[in-house]
Order: sequence, then C-alpha cells, then structure tokens
Amino acid sequence: MAAAAEAVTEVDATNEEGEEEEQVVNPWEVSAGKGGIDYDKLVDQFGCQRLDDALVARVARLTARPPHRFLRRGLFFAHRDLNEILDLYEKGEKFYLYTGRGPSSEALHLGHLIPFMFTKYLQDAFKVPLVIQLTDDEKFLWKNLTVEETKRLARENAKDIIACGFDVERTFIFSDFNYVGGAFYENMVKVARCVTYNKVVGIFGFTPEDHIGKVSFPPVQAVPSFPSSFPHLFSGNDQLRCLIPCAIDQDPYFRMTRDVAPRIGYQKPSLIESRFFPALQGENTKMSASDPNSAIYVTDSAKEIKTKVNKYAFSGGRDSIELHRKLGANLDVDVPIKYLNFFLEDDNELEHIKKEYKEGRMLTGEVKQCLVAVLSELVARHQRARALVTEEMVDVFMAARPLPNMFG
Ligand code: TRP
Repeated sequence: MAAAAEAVTEVDATNEEGEEEEQVVNPWEVSAGKGGIDYDKLVDQFGCQRLDDALVARVARLTARPPHRFLRRGLFFAHRDLNEILDLYEKGEKFYLYTGRGPSSEALHLGHLIPFMFTKYLQDAFKVPLVIQLTDDEKFLWKNLTVEETKRLARENAKDIIACGFDVERTFIFSDFNYVGGAFYENMVKVARCVTYNKVVGIFGFTPEDHIGKVSFPPVQAVPSFPSSFPHLFSGNDQLRCLIPCAIDQDPYFRMTRDVAPRIGYQKPSLIESRFFPALQGENTKMSASDPNSAIYVTDSAKEIKTKVNKYAFSGGRDSIELHRKLGANLDVDVPIKYLNFFLEDDNELEHIKKEYKEGRMLTGEVKQCLVAVLSELVARHQRARALVTEEMVDVFMAARPLPNMFG
C-alpha cells in the first residue's frame, strides 16, 4: 500500500492492549482492526451519510412495501444523496440502477449474492431499469487470468446473477470486453481527462510499480453511472439519475465519479452502501477463494453447508453448557447470529432466537441447526433457479437492446 493511500483508506483502531491496529478498506483490500470493521469511522472518513430509520421509512412509504430486511437491519447502512433520488421519485421522476461484479471466480459465495438480492428488491420496488457491469477487464488486470478465462467467468457469473430473479424487460448485463466502445468510451476519456495521476494515487493507492492498466481502469467503472453511456437505453435522457447499490469497499470509485460528474455536465450518481458479509471464522477474517471453508458457496450441497456451519462458524457460545446457561452467548462475535441477521426473513423469529441464545436458554448447536435450515433452503432455491438459466437467456440479458417497458 502506498503511503498516499494510507492517508485516505486506513483508520486507526485501538485494541484492548492499547496497541494501534489499522483498518484498511479499499476495492482490493478489506482488513479489520482487532474489533472488526469500524463502520462509523468508515462513514466519517469516506464522507458518506448514514442511512437512518427515517430514510428507511421513507423508502417504505414511497414504494408502498415493507423495507427489505437488509434495510430494516441496517445492513445497507450508508448512502450518498439517496434523499435526492427519493425527492425526484416522489415528484414522478424515475432513475436507473447500476451495480456490478468482477468475475474472478467460478462460484459465488453468499457475500457476493447480497448486492444482487438487494438490487433485485430495489428494481421490483421502484420499477426501474438496471445495468449490471461485469468487469472482466478489471480481473484480467488484477488477477493472473487470461482474457478468455475472465470472459468465460463473466458469462458463468451472469447466470448466477440472472438466477437472482432480475426482470429481463428492465435489465441489461454487459461485459466490459464486449461492450466498451462508442458513447461508453467517449465518457471514459472525458472522465480520464479530469483525473490527475496524483488524484488517482490518493484515492486508490497505486504505487510506481503498478502497471498502467490499473491506473487506467477507474473510468471504466465510473461511466456506467452516466446514462449517456447506454444510448440504446437512455438516448435523449442524459440527466437521468443513477443509484448504485454496492458494498462500501467500492466507494472510492464513486467518490472519483461524483467529483468528475458536474465538470463534464452530468449528474452525480447516488449510492446505497452495505456492510461486509463476514467469513465463517468471524468478522476479523476474510472469505478467501483459497480457503473453501471460509465461506458458503452457492454451489455447496446441503451436506457441505451443514458441515461448514457446524465445524467452522465461529461461536459466541460458552465453553461448557453450565457456563453457557449461566452467562449466555456473546452475540457480538457469533457468526451464526450474524448470518441469520442477513438471511432469516422473520423479524420475530430472529428476535426470539437472539434473546434465548443471549440468555443461555438456547445452545450454539440449536442456533446452528436453524442457520443450516435457512441456508440450505436459500442455496437450493438458487441452484434450482440457476439450472433454469439457458445460454439463450444469457444472450438476451447481454444484448445491447432497447428496453421499451423499463419504467412501466
Ligand atoms: N469492481 C467490482 C468488483 O470487483 C465490480 C463492479 C463494477 C461494481 N461496477 C460496479 C460493484 C458497481 C458495485 C457497483 O466486484
């Protein structure tokens, strides 16, 4: 990490011994201090806004449906100018959604699904079009993969994304290798001319040893925020607003984008940002592609899910049953509870489990059993949906075509 990047992306956290630990959050690295990620500090440091209860209530009112559990539970917890999008929406002006994925692996894990599950809810609730960027070029530049392999992974990942239930009449999925050019490329160079080398080093922490492919990439992720990058969708609608659901590690890209937008005559995109989904081993560790036991994959069988949860999910329960009955579980570090918080839909059931577990009446094994049931159901449902996604469907979602009913 370059010193310049440390200035903007690292926060000091102090552990119990008073030692300083730094938390690092950027698009390529997420590492927590001792006590897990300090999201409050992140919001202040990045300069985004907190997504409070009033704003969640407003979303519910405007969409005439209950807020998604990710909103109810503060899992999407930060935003930039979401209120502006809602003000306009209230006046009858629509917007479009933009999200993406870097196709670096064959199988997605549960953490990868979160932005897509949430985006699907936003699309249904607001009835708006959506563009999904597959950054095969980004993964070529950052990982040791061939162009062919990243393109193949993009297509495979598109199937998992489609399986999340997106509406084909409102959704355009594109791979950078296939789509970049034309108006999209014109916007890229407009952005590029506004960002100095110093600035990009400050935002992303590139070092003199980094190849120039990395330095040149940020405009690629920036310009889907501008409707004119998609003439087949938004021609004549250059000022249409854009809302980006993403995990907060992507914020640097969009800080850059929002900084440039007014200088090239465009609207700044708004953002709605999530926390990270913890690894099975706990909040301080990372889900890693090289350790299959650190995450649940959407390809896992019910048996694998059961084994992983029972064997690897970090427990906040006590060492002996006697002690557990007496003290109760520590919910702050308990991974099964964190996972249920993401995926158990029923608020009452969740509250009941938390209370019983915290007060020692429920044991870790029982909570894990509940989690295994929830996750097996979710993963099995995803697998069934993915099996129904054909090559033809991928071609349709990925065709640069008009979407005549996208606001309908
Ligand atoms: N860079 C992201 C990744 O590696 C992919 C991405 C592209 C993205 N555009 C986005 C993510 C917009 C969220 C929103 O996964």
